[in-house]
Amino acid sequence: MDIYVYFNPISRPILHFLLLLFLAYSCLNNSSVLVESCMEEERRALLSFKQDLSDPSGKLSSWAGHECCQWTGISCNNRTGHVATVDLRNTYPDTTGYDQWNTTDYEESCLGVRTQSLNSVVAGEIPSSLGNLSNLNYLDLSSSYSLSSKNLNWLSHLSSLKYLNLEGVSLSSTGVSWLHEVNMLPSLLELHLSGCLTDGNQLPLSMPTINFTSLLVLDMSLNSINFSYPKWMFNLTSLTKVDLSGNSFSGPFLDEFVRLKSLEHLDLQNVGLKGQFPKFSGNLCRLKSLSLASNQIDGGIEEFSSGFSNCSFNRMESLDLHFCGLVGKLPSSLGMLRSLQYLDLNFNSFWGSILEFIISNLSSSLKTLDLRNNIFNGSIPQSLGKLSQLVSLYLSYNSWEGNLTEAHFINLTKLESFAVSTAQPVPIIFNLIDYEWIPPFKLHRSEMHNCRVGPGFPVWLQSQTELVWVSRKNAGLSGEIPEEWFFKISSQIHGLDLSSNQINGKLPFRFNSFPNLGSIVLSHNQFDGTIPSSICSIQSLSDLALNNNQLSGEFPKEWSLWSSIITVDVSNNNMSGNIPSSMGIPSSLGILKTDNNHFSGEIPSALQNCSFLERLYLGGNKFTGSIPSWIGSKVSTFTVLQLQSNSLSGHIPHHLCSLPFLQILDLSHNRFSGIIPNCLNKLTSLISSSYAGWGVFADFEVTTVTVKGTASEYLENNARLLTIIDFSHSDLEGEIPEEISSLVRLATLNLSINQLRGNIPSKVGNLHLLETLDLSQNQL
Ligand SMILES: *[C@@H]1O[C@H](CO)[C@@H](O)[C@H](O)[C@H]1NC(C)=O
Ligand SMILES: *[C@@H]1O[C@H](CO)[C@@H](O)[C@H](O)[C@H]1NC(C)=O
Ligand SMILES: *[C@@H]1O[C@H](CO)[C@@H](O)[C@H](O)[C@H]1NC(C)=O
Ligand SMILES: *[C@@H]1O[C@H](CO)[C@@H](O)[C@H](O)[C@H]1NC(C)=O
Ligand SMILES: *[C@@H]1O[C@H](CO)[C@@H](O)[C@H](O)[C@H]1NC(C)=O
Ligand SMILES: *[C@@H]1O[C@H](CO)[C@@H](O)[C@H](O)[C@H]1NC(C)=O
Ligand SMILES: *[C@@H]1O[C@H](CO)[C@@H](O)[C@H](O)[C@H]1NC(C)=O
Ligand SMILES: *[C@@H]1O[C@H](CO)[C@@H](O)[C@H](O)[C@H]1NC(C)=O
Ligand SMILES: *[C@@H]1O[C@H](CO)[C@@H](O)[C@H](O)[C@H]1NC(C)=O
Ligand SMILES: *[C@@H]1O[C@H](CO)[C@@H](O)[C@H](O)[C@H]1NC(C)=O
Ligand SMILES: *[C@@H]1O[C@H](CO)[C@@H](O)[C@H](O)[C@H]1NC(C)=O
Ligand SMILES: *[C@@H]1O[C@H](CO)[C@@H](O)[C@H](O)[C@H]1NC(C)=O
Repeated sequence: MDIYVYFNPISRPILHFLLLLFLAYSCLNNSSVLVESCMEEERRALLSFKQDLSDPSGKLSSWAGHECCQWTGISCNNRTGHVATVDLRNTYPDTTGYDQWNTTDYEESCLGVRTQSLNSVVAGEIPSSLGNLSNLNYLDLSSSYSLSSKNLNWLSHLSSLKYLNLEGVSLSSTGVSWLHEVNMLPSLLELHLSGCLTDGNQLPLSMPTINFTSLLVLDMSLNSINFSYPKWMFNLTSLTKVDLSGNSFSGPFLDEFVRLKSLEHLDLQNVGLKGQFPKFSGNLCRLKSLSLASNQIDGGIEEFSSGFSNCSFNRMESLDLHFCGLVGKLPSSLGMLRSLQYLDLNFNSFWGSILEFIISNLSSSLKTLDLRNNIFNGSIPQSLGKLSQLVSLYLSYNSWEGNLTEAHFINLTKLESFAVSTAQPVPIIFNLIDYEWIPPFKLHRSEMHNCRVGPGFPVWLQSQTELVWVSRKNAGLSGEIPEEWFFKISSQIHGLDLSSNQINGKLPFRFNSFPNLGSIVLSHNQFDGTIPSSICSIQSLSDLALNNNQLSGEFPKEWSLWSSIITVDVSNNNMSGNIPSSMGIPSSLGILKTDNNHFSGEIPSALQNCSFLERLYLGGNKFTGSIPSWIGSKVSTFTVLQLQSNSLSGHIPHHLCSLPFLQILDLSHNRFSGIIPNCLNKLTSLISSSYAGWGVFADFEVTTVTVKGTASEYLENNARLLTIIDFSHSDLEGEIPEEISSLVRLATLNLSINQLRGNIPSKVGNLHLLETLDLSQNQL
């Protein structure tokens, strides 16, 4: 993946510059009257700056010749001709490639995130020759992540600087001197030093004088700063925006913040705040946005919101308190924040219901309400339907009771995202009076779990034709998927989860009209018939889960067309046939589950081209032949290898021991013969206590393992702790190798029902994590 040097196209100085260019041209009819020929000294400074950087992809290739004001990223002052702006911002292209929900917005997302290496384009030490651009107003070297500066002496020469952005530039060798250089910039209005400092000791807590008191914006986020707030910060009383998120200032919120009376935006997300809610005491009446997310705040938010009672009016628009450890009922004082547009209370312990008067006071402002992952246990009030500005409403992962009706949505004409689910045994019932009801909204993202939407596919659901993500898990849907609706959403849908319903009939055949679909989850339904080969034309597909249906026939031969597939799960169906080597297999595959079908033939040799294959479940089929040699030689990424209950034979090969990440190895109920290889002590992840963990793959996926004779399904999060070796029910002979006592991370060892003889290894007591040991029905 490439990182591009990106020249912020709408940065204000450049806009001004263009505007001026235009004006000058029309007034004077000679654009070069504009003083924009380059100052020779500055041109040389820029060239020397360029020379000292590494720029392999030539993003600075326009930096040649005499007209330095025309170079990309450079603009000059219209009057003096001095270089005024250097903007070498790098931006990252979307790393997932999917227009998906934000990570927290869609926990159920089935997409695997693949980390890609970041190749920076401009790299190296920032040359001090920048100091010769003495009239510079605007300097943005952000997001370079491979620039660094050992000292910032050159900075103090830029006394006109108004905007400085060094985001991501490593200042780890400058010590505390960076602040002294910045202190020489009295005109500075914005200072962005996100991710620049790596050592907490680099932040001086006190300064004799502070000169840059005009500062409006201070961004010191993501700096791993780990002690107290710098006192001098509270002298910057013009500040309107402060971002200290992602540091660890641990300790209470400081009362000094109330000195920053101009403050409009304060971000203290994840700074290790502990203790009582901050006392604003009516001093921060200009505050528009506040994030205290990911801190440990004791008590409720009553005190906080009542702090606004002394403001003649409050401007609070955005309040982010997710993951703050807040407990209790929603305080009525929230109703005071009558301009609130964004309220995020995700991951707290609020209970009770949503208070009517909060709703009525916020009804003309609130756009996003996020109450997910709390313990709300009342009913969802109908008055919610008054929040006529609402765009995103997230209510899932609570214990709601009662029903939803048309009235809940009556005025929600702008709603685009809606999520609801309940942990109660009784699902929320979508209790429509009018079955033909058409909602006033067109949802883009919608997740309704454990919420009775069906029976059938109700008219209101079919009216939703702009869906991008839809998830209706356990929603009581039944009958066949209406082809017409399916076709209408086909061009824009990215993720579709209709699992755990009673949908029957054939899988829709018009899959070839889905150009953007990344994830299809139709598991736990009653689909029958074959998997249509049109499904292979969805090139964007990354995850396919069709498990636990009644699908039959062979796997579509064209599946090698999937170029970005990660997970394929067709387990627990009636599929048959073999997967011949002639049939290509998509090499991006990470998880393949075909267990509990009637597949036959040998373990497909084409799988050896899947160099990222992490989990392979072939159990409960009719596979024959031996364990192929590419397992452990060509592909060694396995964490799970389940081959149980087939008709596999031959020896357990030594190359199985070359799987350093293996945690679950189930070969039981086969016809393996010969001895247990004496190399099991090479299974690194079973012998070492430091353990790397599973990869980054899908979350929806369930691992079925047999422990103590009962098959249990483990969600991936729990399964990642499982460690199992099961060689039971085969024809193994010889002694149990001593090496087995090295597998100190093993929780289950089952060697029962074989013909093993000799002694039980004396050091088997080393396996202190062992929960299940079954050596029965051998000749030990
Ligand atoms: C504009 O003025 C410059 C000198 O300042 C001159 O060299 C150039 O030819 C003029 N261009 C036009 C289009 O008049
Ligand atoms: C030159 O540009 C600046 C912005 O960069 C603007 O504020 C100023 O008014 C312009 N000067 C003239 C003479 O137009
Ligand atoms: C994701 O979050 C960002 C910033 O918090 C927000 O601007 C953006 O709209 C969100 N995207 C979606 C799809 O909700
Ligand atoms: C400015 O340029 C001169 C000559 O190119 C150089 O010697 C000097 O070090 C530069 N000053 C700074 C602050 O970089
Ligand atoms: C800023 O403050 C420092 C003391 O830290 C002082 O030495 C320096 O002269 C001041 N600079 C300006 C430009 O006011
Ligand atoms: C802060 O971090 C530095 C190293 O980065 C460490 O030396 C220092 O002890 C830490 N201080 C506190 C209060 O944790
Ligand atoms: C901050 O302000 C206080 C009170 O106005 C003053 O006494 C102190 O010297 C200032 N500190 C700095 C570092 O400027
Ligand atoms: C409001 O102002 C009054 C008078 O200044 C003060 O006594 C009271 O504590 C303030 N209330 C809050 C919540 O800050
Ligand atoms: C709702 O707004 C009204 C009018 O501004 C105000 O009197 C009332 O106190 C507010 N309700 C709450 C719960 O703050
Ligand atoms: C909701 O939960 C709270 C705290 O767990 C409990 O006190 C209350 O009785 C519950 N209310 C209902 C209606 O179940
Ligand atoms: C819906 O909006 C209309 C017009 O704004 C209003 O008259 C009506 O009372 C609202 N209904 C509800 C349930 O809020
Ligand atoms: C919810 O709907 C069900 C089924 O329509 C009904 O039996 C039940 O009484 C309703 N519950 C409430 C609290 O309205």
